[in-house]
Amino acid sequence: MAKLLIVDDDANMRWALEKALGKDGHRILTADNGDAAEKIVSEGAPDLMLCDLKMPGLDGMGLLARLRKDHPSMPVIMITGYGTVEDAVQAMKLGAVDFILKPFDIEVVKLSVRKALGIEKLKDEVRFWREEAWKGFTPAGIIGSSPLMRKVLSLVQQVAPTNATVLITGESGTGKELIAQAIHQNSPRSDQPLIKVNCAAIPETLLESELFGHEKGAFTGAVARRLGRFERADQGTIFLDEIGEITPTMQIKLLRVLQEKEFERVGGTETIRVDARIVAATNRDLASEVKSGRFREDLYYRLKVLPIEVPPLRERKSDIPKLVDYYLKKFAQELGRGGIEVEPETMELLTRYHWPGNVRELQNVLERAVILCTGRSIVPELLPIEVLRPNSQELVNAKDKTGSGNDTLFRLPDEGLNLESVEKNLIQQALDRSEGNQTKAARLLGISRYTLIYRMEKYDIK
Ligand SMILES: Nc1ncnc2c1ncn2[C@@H]1O[C@H](COP(=O)(O)OP(=O)(O)OP(=O)(O)O)[C@@H](O)[C@H]1O
Ligand SMILES: [Mg+2]
Repeated sequence: MAKLLIVDDDANMRWALEKALGKDGHRILTADNGDAAEKIVSEGAPDLMLCDLKMPGLDGMGLLARLRKDHPSMPVIMITGYGTVEDAVQAMKLGAVDFILKPFDIEVVKLSVRKALGIEKLKDEVRFWREEAWKGFTPAGIIGSSPLMRKVLSLVQQVAPTNATVLITGESGTGKELIAQAIHQNSPRSDQPLIKVNCAAIPETLLESELFGHEKGAFTGAVARRLGRFERADQGTIFLDEIGEITPTMQIKLLRVLQEKEFERVGGTETIRVDARIVAATNRDLASEVKSGRFREDLYYRLKVLPIEVPPLRERKSDIPKLVDYYLKKFAQELGRGGIEVEPETMELLTRYHWPGNVRELQNVLERAVILCTGRSIVPELLPIEVLRPNSQELVNAKDKTGSGNDTLFRLPDEGLNLESVEKNLIQQALDRSEGNQTKAARLLGISRYTLIYRMEKYDIK
């Protein structure tokens, strides 16, 4: 039960309250003036204080005002025989949870006590869970407390300790590489190397020897044996970035590594076995790449043992203010600038924008703004046009893409139209233009892939 402090200069009143509330099982302390009460609280705050308003010396209001500072969450119920509306209002302003007039029905007091204790318990619980959530898994350098990012991070937490292959998907700039790093850093392999390979940046002829190494004389220029990245990642993790870009030949070779954990160096005959944990990433929709025959199905299934989809920034806008603060500080520091603030209107615009380039685009916009900023705050004028006026830019883009003479595209015809059929038609167009790539089509339409899939089902689009 709770510890209650009753403060009243009237001994009869103290006795009555002590008896009634003590019966409910609470532990009761009493004080006959404000100063005595303050002393008791300073020795250990009670769970609740019931306090008379008019007392000699430090009165109830004065006591309340003093205690607010050090004990903001201690609930206080004011009890008074001379209450005015103004008193009640002031007591509430000072944080009192209730204001009861004498003479009172003791049941009213009991109810108020129960409520106050309940509220505080609930508040404590909310606070606890907030802090828990916040304390929850937040790998170094990753900002994300939105529900969607929390899901991603808890997935990371679950998959990191395992040896299973992880496939990270998501639009460009969403933070796939950061997630890959977090997986490695939170795995038992974290003291071993994390070897990165950008499959798109290395020409096919070089990729094989980059990955698997080569023997001396394997090809012109191979003057010595060279270890590949798989071998260098032994005991650690290999991050195969842009995996969607590799050629069919490389797909077969990778499949073997995934299946058998072995390979030969280029120009070599010795079979090498390594223990490298594989994390791959792509911004392509591999499922549709498989469907269209551009990506091997068997390799796809070997890769996506543990799939992690990083959501686009526009689907987790609550992360934007924290990202803005973080990168603003970072860029201001790098550029040797003092503290720079963000005007509320700027933040509003940054939050409203749909960020097709995701976190990377946000970084670029902020860096640019810090460079251009001459004052102490980021005003809207420092933002690029597409962020300032997203709608006008979208219109311009739409017109650019569809050529001229399309002014009627957004104008309702005289005889009206069928919105559903327009929507269906636009979805079909987007799918055609993206050659069936749902991620791309969704991006063209400014909706998430899930929304697209939902609508495709709704309109029975294949
Ligand atoms: N949640 C985040 N918190 C802080 N910084 C982030 C976050 N997500 C992404 N970034 C930053 O945004 C930039 C882009 O992230 P990253 O390179 O991981 O994206 P990506 O998904 O791999 O993109 P791409 O597909 O274009 O390679 C990086 O500088 C990264 O540090
Ligand atoms: Mg990347």
